[in-house]
Order: sequence, then structure tokens, then C-alpha cells
Amino acid sequence: MATLNATQNQALDAPAGPVFAHVVGWGMALPDKVMTNEEISAFVETSDEWIYARTGIKERYIAGEGESTATLAYKAAQQALEVADILPIDLDLIVVATSTPENIFPSSASLVQDWLNAHHAGAFDLSAACSGFVYAMNMAADSIRAGSIQTALVIGSETMSRILDWQDRSTCILFGDGAGAVVLAASEIEGGVKSSVLRSDGAGSDLLAIPSVGSIDAAESRAGANGAKLYKMTMAGGEVFRFATRVVNDSIEQASKMAGIGVEDIDLVIPHQANLRILQAAARKLGIDINKFMSNVEYYGNTSAASIPIALCEAIEQKRIQDKDHIALVGFGGGLAWASMIIQWGIPKPSEQHGSVFNRQRRKVQYRMARWRSRSRRLRRRVKRGIKDFRP
Ligand code: UT7
Repeated sequence: MATLNATQNQALDAPAGPVFAHVVGWGMALPDKVMTNEEISAFVETSDEWIYARTGIKERYIAGEGESTATLAYKAAQQALEVADILPIDLDLIVVATSTPENIFPSSASLVQDWLNAHHAGAFDLSAACSGFVYAMNMAADSIRAGSIQTALVIGSETMSRILDWQDRSTCILFGDGAGAVVLAASEIEGGVKSSVLRSDGAGSDLLAIPSVGSIDAAESRAGANGAKLYKMTMAGGEVFRFATRVVNDSIEQASKMAGIGVEDIDLVIPHQANLRILQAAARKLGIDINKFMSNVEYYGNTSAASIPIALCEAIEQKRIQDKDHIALVGFGGGLAWASMIIQWGIPKPSEQHGSVFNRQRRKVQYRMARWRSRSRRLRRRVKRGIKDFRP
């Protein structure tokens, strides 16, 4: 059972009534380096004017040496635990939504679990491209509501810069790196994650792809229906654009209906940040004021599975989310896959995020211990192997 703070004190030991899954912590992390449109136009034929007019993007963060999907996820996770004021040991589940994992396995989630010293948590990566964060939230919230877990860390983290073809101006201008994380916890307070709509259309799998080792044509080092290079992204931008503008409003409408609210009751839409024009088109179709769409694509580009949790963190920071507000998350992209979710914001209140000093120290100790725990386990394994090898 997670140790929640006073604001979250209605978390359950033995729930008598329905259980709800609430966002109780959030955090984000970015690489150190920023790359502007001007910098990109120095090595591919493009311009700041073109990029900004067609996408709304001005700059993006790019991971450097020592920065990876897991390290960014770890930093975002630490912040989210701080806000939630819970200990890593209280986590039951860690999910990292990503298209750019460190490895096929072990999962980036397992690395984060180890570094956090969250040794009661199960961990796995989830692959649903730019919709991954909403898919992961749905999985975690359902597990909480079903009673199989109490507390989950859901992360979207990406190093898109590593799978871009930097000679391809139609994709390399769009993407960036970063991570966002939330802590979801069980509560008796009504609200939290109210509905989710997950959809996929694999017939569009050739429109947006990153072929990997399992690809049918991998042996020829060319792969994917569109002849893409291994581990490099290709995208049929125009078709993906049309798909996005088609599905975003439908799926928000469906999720709203499932949550028992009208689209007009949504206080803030936090969409996947792919292109400002997609958000404008969706707002028009839904009849929602564009100001109710959170957008920060200008400063981050498209960070795939990380874009929604990063935008959520910024919306909270900008005080755009109030208690009882209905928030719509919507993701869309590779798969093709798309997903919407309605969350009724509940606990804790953004102004009350200070975490207890005692717990902060305990978390620091746990992070330090995590390093020693890992090292000592590896060392023990090596010693055991050595003894076995030398045994006559
Ligand atoms: O996160 C997953 C979901 N992804 C998305 O939702 C992305 C959806 N797609 C898009 O955002 C847009 O389709 C793009 C931003 C990728 C492209 O914008 P567009 O308005 O659809 O441009 P286009 O692909 O139709 O290209 C128009 C012209 C072409 O030249 P011609 O054939 O008209 O002479 C391109 O070659 O713009 C050219 N172009 C560029 N010019 C300067 C394409 N990329 C660039 C560039 N700089 N970077």
C-alpha cells in the first residue's frame, strides 16, 4: 500500500466502495542541449520560416552524451515521486511508453526501477508510438481500479534524435527528446481517470515506421514496406496529417461520452504535440476554443510518447488545471494508433505540492542505495561465476 500524504489520505487499505485512479504526482525532464530551426537549416535545405509556418515548431531538445531514454525517464520519475510524496518502494508498477528504448530488452522501465530502488514494482515498456502514454495510463488506471495494484508510475520518454535520418528534412525538423511522468494512485475520491478510448488501424503501418531487428527484410539491412533503413524513421507526413485530423475529434467525443460529459464540459485538452495545425483543425471540428488546447510544440517539437506528460506538467505549472476540471488527453501516430482519455482532476491540489522533508531524505537514501544494491548484486554474481569456473 502506498504511503500517500495528508491530501491523499483517502487511499485505501481495504476498499469498501469503488476505487478511482488519480494523478497524484508529475514531473518532466529535458536534455541540456537545445537545437533551433536555424541550426537545422545549416545542414538540410529548410528554413525557420518554413518549419514555423508549417508546424509551429521553433526549437527542440536533443539528447547528448550520457543522456538516454532511461536517464530522462528516471529524472522525470524522481520529480513525480517528489510531488506525490511517496517512496519508490511503494510503487507497484512502472510503465515506460517509448519508441526509442535503450534495448529491445531489458526494458527502459526495468532500468528506471533499478535506479529508483523500486524493488516492489513490476516494470515494462509499452510500444504504441505517440499514443503510448495514453495507452500506458489506461493500463495502469485499469489495474488500480481492478484492485491488482495501488500505485503506478507512468512515464513517456523518448530520444527521437537517435532514430531520425538527419538528411531527411521532412522528418528531422519535427522531433525532439524529453520525458514526462505521472504517479497514479488508488483513492476513494470520485474522479481521476474516467474513460479511455484506444484504437488502431494497422493498415496504415507503412505510413510511419521505425524498422527494427525483427523486420522481415532486416537481413538485407533495408526494412519496412516503404524501404526504410533499420532503426530510422520514415513518415508519409501528409497522410499522417490527414489521419490525425480525422481521428482526434472523434476519439475525444467518444471518450467524453463514455465519461458522461459533453465535449463542451472539457476544461483543457492536452493533445500529442505533433503540429500546431493539427490542433487548430481539431479545435475547429470539435467547436472548442483553441485556447482550451494546451500547446508547447514551439519549444519541444514532437517528443512522441513524452509530449502529453510534458504538456501536462507545463499546464499544471501554468495553473491551467483546477480541482474538478475535466482534462482530455489525446494521442495519435504510428501504428496507426490513437487514444483519448478523460481525467477529472482531483487530488492533490497543485498548490499543495511540497512533499515532506523526511520523505525527501528517505527517497535520496533509497536512490543512493539503489546504486549499491545493483553493483553488489552484479559483483556477487561475478564472484559466484568465478568460483564455479575455478572449481575442479
Ligand atoms: O507524431 C506522429 C504524428 N505525426 C504527425 O502528425 C505529423 C503529420 N504531418 C505533418 O505535420 C506535416 O505533413 C509535415 C509538417 C510533416 C509536412 O507539412 P506539409 O504541409 O504536409 O508539407 P508537404 O509534405 O506537403 O510538403 C510541401 C512542400 C514539398 O515541396 P513541393 O513538393 O511542394 O515542392 C516538400 O518537399 O514542402 C517541402 N518540404 C520542405 N521544405 C522546406 C518538406 N519538408 C520541408 C522542409 N523545409 N523541412
